[in-house]
Order: sequence, then C-alpha cells, then structure tokens
Amino acid sequence: MQRIDQPVVFVRHDDRRDPQQLGSLRPFKARASHTAPVQGRVKKLEKIDRVEPPKRRQSVAFDFAPAPRSGEDVVNLRGVHKGYGGRVIYEGLDLLVRRRERCCVLGVNGAGKSTLLRLVAGATEPDAGSVTLGGSVKMGYFAQHAMDLLEGESSVFETLEGAFPRAGQGSLRSLAGAFGFSGDEVEKRCRVLSGGEKARLVMALMLYDPPNFLVLDEPTNHLDIATKEMLIGALSSFEGTMLFVSHDRHFLAALSNRVLELTPEGIHQYGGGYTEYVARTGHEAPGLHA
Ligand SMILES: Nc1ncnc2c1ncn2[C@@H]1O[C@H](COP(=O)(O)OP(=O)(O)O)[C@@H](O)[C@H]1O
Ligand SMILES: [Mg+2]
Repeated sequence: MQRIDQPVVFVRHDDRRDPQQLGSLRPFKARASHTAPVQGRVKKLEKIDRVEPPKRRQSVAFDFAPAPRSGEDVVNLRGVHKGYGGRVIYEGLDLLVRRRERCCVLGVNGAGKSTLLRLVAGATEPDAGSVTLGGSVKMGYFAQHAMDLLEGESSVFETLEGAFPRAGQGSLRSLAGAFGFSGDEVEKRCRVLSGGEKARLVMALMLYDPPNFLVLDEPTNHLDIATKEMLIGALSSFEGTMLFVSHDRHFLAALSNRVLELTPEGIHQYGGGYTEYVARTGHEAPGLHA
C-alpha cells in the first residue's frame, strides 16, 4: 500500500476539539493481521464480479423524489471499538458525518470499509462506544452483498410489492421500468436475474421511498456502464448525505466531497472530493478499477 507522506487532516473551522485529540481518529493499530498474506486470502475468497454485457433496452432514468430534510448531524460515532474474534478493526473511532457531506471511504481490501458502513447502518453493533443517527435521518443502505438477500423464487414485481404493499400496481411498474425492467421482465424470478439486474432491483427497493442519507457499499460492481451512468446522474442531484465505498474512478470523482482513507495508521481525512485527494496525494485510491 502506498503511504501518504503528509496526510492532510481535515479540521473544520467550527471544530472546537484540541488538534491533539485528532489522534482519536485513529481506528486501528498497525497489526500483523493487516499484512499482505491475509489480504491475499481475502481477495481469493471474493467472488469474481461479472459485468452485465451491454444490451439494447430502454434507457434507465430515475429522479429522486425530494426527501424530508435531516438534521445537521447525520451520524455520529463516538469511541467506537469493533473487532471480530481477536482481530481489532476499530479502536476508539470518532467520526461525524454532517448533512450534505458525500464521504467516500477508501482503503485496501480488508481495511474495514464495509464494517464502517455496517456500523453506521446498524447492521452490526459496536463492541463499545456509540453510533447515533441524527434527527429525521432516513437511511437507504445498499450492503455489499445485498443482492444475495433477494428471495430467489419471488419475481421482480413480487419483490417490489412485498416491500411496498400499499403502493399501486402502476407506480410499482413505473418504478421497475425506471430501473430497466420493462413489460414482462417484471415477471422474472430473482434467481434468474443477472448481477446487474439484481443490483438494479436492490436500488429500486432502496430509492422508492426516498431516503435523505444513502449508505452505499460498492453499488456499481455489477452494473453495466449505462446503468452506472444513470445512477451517477441521479445521485449527483441527490440533495441528501452520502457515505459510500466504490472502486470506480468516475463514481468517486463525480460524487464525493469528502474522503476518508482507512490506513493501518488510522483514518486520514481529506476535505474536498476524490479529485482533490488524487491531486494532493499524487496517486489514485487503493484497489481502483481501471
Ligand atoms: N462477520 C465477520 N466475521 C469475522 N471477520 C470479519 C467479518 N466481517 C469482516 N471481517 C473481517 O474484518 C476485516 C474488515 O472487513 P471489511 O470491513 O469487510 O473490509 P473491506 O470492506 O474494507 O474490504 C477483514 O479482514 C474481514 O475478513
Ligand atoms: Mg467491503
């Protein structure tokens, strides 16, 4: 992993904490378990991503319905400890995400990106410390393996209907259509969907009832280019807050305005988005897809 010689610590003007305390941003210590052999094993275990082949279909278009505005503090992590078995991932993590921030989380495989998003989403509990959501926060969470949770025997339409039983047939059909399922395609069972189709269905589930805080863990992995561009377009006009992991340069550059990089020495924070991170560090994110 490349090292940053002079990490720029992002301090807000209104941040009244003693700069010394920024040491508490360090989530985990350098440990032998973070070294290459472990990461190599993790890599091998990961599924090979298949990108959908391009095909002719109606272009996907989705606009966000306006979500109610959240409070200024969207999520606040204080003194969070998290480990698995004996392995420490976070040790005294403090992190505040504010309204309209779009934070991308960078780091090598196994650095703890998904763990951070799961903590924020409430999908896992901290061993110690607190994770507090702000007032009126309405979260949409796209887990890294969300697609695996679809019910194989249910059709696309049944899946949407199950999630929104009070929505009308017409509005569910137009939701499906907006995510590229036209006509009879809504009758397809989830088990026969391609990776990209599953990702689009999960997106539709997440965005129908508009959230004001999106927590997205590698949402574009299985998407074809057209759908990815649609999603970037839709998200760039999203008025809420985002915390996301992506290895896609365009996604990162188009959508982030704050960077959190997980390193063995702790979290390095950069004000400004991904493009500024590249300019300041002189390199791209670890694990970026070409
Ligand atoms: N449920 C779990 N049980 C045990 N170990 C886990 C679990 N989830 C993640 N880990 C381990 O914690 C480390 C961080 O994982 P993760 O947050 O998924 O990293 P990233 O998303 O940055 O690749 C990895 O070494 C991973 O193997
Ligand atoms: Mg992950």
